[in-house]
Amino acid sequence: MTEKKNKDAFSSNFGMIAAAIGSAIGLGNLWRFPYLVGQNGGAAFILVYLIITLLLCTPILLSEMVIGRRGGGSPRGAYVKVTGRKGWGVAGILGMLTCFMIMSFYVVVGGWTIRYLVMSIAPGFHRGAQIDSAAVFSGFVGSNVSPIVYSLIFILLTIGIINLGVQKGIEKTSKLMMPLLFVLIVLIGIRSVTLPGAGAGLDYLFKPDFSQFNFDSLLAALGQSFFSLSLGACMMVTYGAYTPKSSNLTKNAAIITVSDTFFALLAGCAIMPAVFAFGINPSEGAGLVFVTLPQIFTQMPLGGLCAILFFVTLFLAAISSAVSLFEVMTSTIMDMGKARRKTASAITAAILLFTGSICSLSQGALRGITIGGKNIFDQFDYVSSNILMTLGGLLAVICVGWVIGKKTFTDEITAGGTIRVPRTLASVLFFIIKYVAPIVIVTTAISSIF
Ligand code: TRP
Repeated sequence: MTEKKNKDAFSSNFGMIAAAIGSAIGLGNLWRFPYLVGQNGGAAFILVYLIITLLLCTPILLSEMVIGRRGGGSPRGAYVKVTGRKGWGVAGILGMLTCFMIMSFYVVVGGWTIRYLVMSIAPGFHRGAQIDSAAVFSGFVGSNVSPIVYSLIFILLTIGIINLGVQKGIEKTSKLMMPLLFVLIVLIGIRSVTLPGAGAGLDYLFKPDFSQFNFDSLLAALGQSFFSLSLGACMMVTYGAYTPKSSNLTKNAAIITVSDTFFALLAGCAIMPAVFAFGINPSEGAGLVFVTLPQIFTQMPLGGLCAILFFVTLFLAAISSAVSLFEVMTSTIMDMGKARRKTASAITAAILLFTGSICSLSQGALRGITIGGKNIFDQFDYVSSNILMTLGGLLAVICVGWVIGKKTFTDEITAGGTIRVPRTLASVLFFIIKYVAPIVIVTTAISSIF
């Protein structure tokens, strides 16, 4: 048992970075970010998003890393160990629950990406075929069996990676997939910005229009930053535990944030110019990548190829994030139930197949069932993104700022004094973690209720 545990570690610092970027870059970047930008005044949103991500969310990411590497083991064990109090284990269990809720709808959308990838490869999807992509999309997601089958395929692929373990599964696939993702999105971006009329899309992305930006946009930017960096769900606590003791956590946190944000911007450049070139309203909402883009692909030169590249990108981004969500649950079950990796992952998969199916059916046969005016799928998204992740982030910063304290924090980010981190930087980071982050999280949470 203990021997097995030792194998649960990344082989190098680069492996850790690749895996964390793999978790961060996901549907959030390609699916959520572009339509939030579209709905909230373009560059104004991007600007605020950048500030929040850099100044607020990077220190929160760092807090999770510190807890994970200092504590080790599963998130629950890590919280108990760093605080010396059993009660704090709740924070780890909450993280697992959050991942479970995110994953329940994530596997459904992951299934959609596989379906669209298959469709884009099949002949007839492009070459000017006038498809009613809105009808295709709603017909597919509203049916009862096929989306669940695709979700199952997505779950099985994820479990395949998880069962190979941390090094051979998570680390190796991330190292392969992440560079590929960047190459793919740049290729699509080049095609998109060279379309006639693409300039309007770039203007839209990079010229701020604060008249479209309001308090809700601010909340959306904060929520998106949390979601995109996989914060507040113990992802980084889990991966922190697998991180080499000599790694420079501050630098890693910065690299992960910058890469994730850069990728989101690239995704914006790949999507918005094409949307504008074809005269489509950019505030389409969640249907943007599954309805609007397929329509564009059918009309644009090289559209068939772009469709395949795009859905490969979407799929790879989705599965590498799903792996991290899955790993949080698996490691917690391994720890709490003293279970082997394969047993724990099988339990995780079985539960997810059930809840994923319910989320999927809530767009079809169970459409009539709503909780607080939202169907089950939207409710899972809402509760996890707006309540649980915020709470998880708050617990992480309180744990580091108020329980672990500055001395231990500094010791961890300097790896016991072996890494040089400028003293002012350490103080500023700790100040943000101890005061700024809790105040911002609590005030936005309270004001979003009213
Ligand atoms: N960050 C991922 C995305 O952008 C989603 C994600 C993966 C996530 N793991 C997470 C979100 C853990 C919160 C917590 O799509």
